[in-house]
Amino acid sequence: GRKWTEVGSIIPELKDQVILTRGRVHTIRPVSKKMAFVVVRERGFTVQCVLNVKPELVSLQMVKFATSLSKESIVDIEGSVSIPAKPITGCTQQQVEVQISKLYCVNRAMPTLPINIEDAARSEVEIEQALEKGEQLVRVNQDTRLNFRILDIRTPANQGIFRIQCQVENIFRQFLLSEGFVGIHTPKLIGGSSEGGSAVFRLDYKGQPACLAQSPQLHKQMAICGDFGRVFEIGPVFRAEDSFTHRHLCEFTGLDAEMEIKEHYSEVMDIVGRLFVAMFDSLNEICKKELEAIGRQYPFEPLKYLRKTLRLTFAEGVQMLKEAGVEVDPLGDLNTESERKLGQLVAEKYGTEFYILHKYPLAVRPFYTMPCHDNPSYSNSFDVFIRGEEIISGAQRVHVPELLEKRAGECGIDVKTISTYVDSFRYGAPPHGGFGVGLERVVMLFCALNNIRKTSLFPRDPQRIAP
Ligand code: 4AD
Repeated sequence: GRKWTEVGSIIPELKDQVILTRGRVHTIRPVSKKMAFVVVRERGFTVQCVLNVKPELVSLQMVKFATSLSKESIVDIEGSVSIPAKPITGCTQQQVEVQISKLYCVNRAMPTLPINIEDAARSEVEIEQALEKGEQLVRVNQDTRLNFRILDIRTPANQGIFRIQCQVENIFRQFLLSEGFVGIHTPKLIGGSSEGGSAVFRLDYKGQPACLAQSPQLHKQMAICGDFGRVFEIGPVFRAEDSFTHRHLCEFTGLDAEMEIKEHYSEVMDIVGRLFVAMFDSLNEICKKELEAIGRQYPFEPLKYLRKTLRLTFAEGVQMLKEAGVEVDPLGDLNTESERKLGQLVAEKYGTEFYILHKYPLAVRPFYTMPCHDNPSYSNSFDVFIRGEEIISGAQRVHVPELLEKRAGECGIDVKTISTYVDSFRYGAPPHGGFGVGLERVVMLFCALNNIRKTSLFPRDPQRIAP
């Protein structure tokens, strides 16, 4: 095979070398009958290629052919690398140009596209500036982006988002493996609700009522009863949410962990704290290019976090809100607004936008949550926040079958529907706890994006099941 150079790897060091590269036609600018500029893009990187009529090498027909190519068509280009007099603005490869000697069209794109990638990649500020200058520009709305997602995800920011998502998953796995966790897979077809509540997708399982798993909750705990000690799972989670919000999806990727607890549920919070500090460090270090690409379209401040993750109790949070003039029910849940407000107060007081709030009121937690032994109005549970929005919930679980039955009953759950789960605790079950992370939320909030649909490749929400 011939040697191919990726667009992102075309650098000044290759000066005068003949290279072969494949990409998409990003823009074409004819200068005259004899000359044209073709900007070629590959995975968010762009390079300017110059087509200049030269005897024996580049014909007039070739220039004509190039200028007839539709945007987004796949092209192969052979040419020599040169250094332009001035940096090429608007390209990622600013210090180089490619002097085309051969150009093949591998596959044409339709002549008119529903999304123009150049427009779809602009920041709000750039859009405003372009409109002021009177440029013809189509503001690409969210629905259009999602309807034609395979075009939309070609923008540099989107390329960055999904590479970061992959890295979040990778660090989650690597960190937990290094802490002695075992990766498992639990069934997604289950007999009943795993989180309580009615937000489940029901289906017919060969004549039996069943549903799509709302979480791996029950089975990850059963794996602990099966003596794995520490487990994690990365997999799909289904929620028949009616909430059409910026942070709810009907299908998302859950990063779940469950572990034996020796003495206190802070052991679980300790893992969460260290895992996420390692994750943020690594994203900032490994994903610099991706973060820059995202920031160019959606400017954001890097996340502020402490080396040792801050923990506050729910009661302390309520007190902070109270002092700021926000009254909340000390035994109720926080709403989105008060969570945001608390996030601001915590950032001001402690200098961190990542923290754990623990010891929640029992009444607002799922039935499987362990009540505090010194005050059963509260529970051994926690939520974790980035920039004032929840990314994780976790807790110690009830491992005593009698208490579990009692708690399920109090929460209005028919114990018969979860009997195999409750029975798992009758054969010797250790104290344990764990947590569940929403992958799309982590990426959204780390990059301060305003909508979870931006961090889901093909999002599923109450109104969308395509593409
Ligand atoms: O808070 P949730 O519902 O908790 C559980 O599923 C527990 N079984 C976790 C545990 O181990 N105790 O969901 C966990 C996380 C949330 O913090 C949030 O990040 C995300 O999953 N999440 C959603 N993400 C997108 N769309 C939705 N509809 C989500 N619901 C929860």
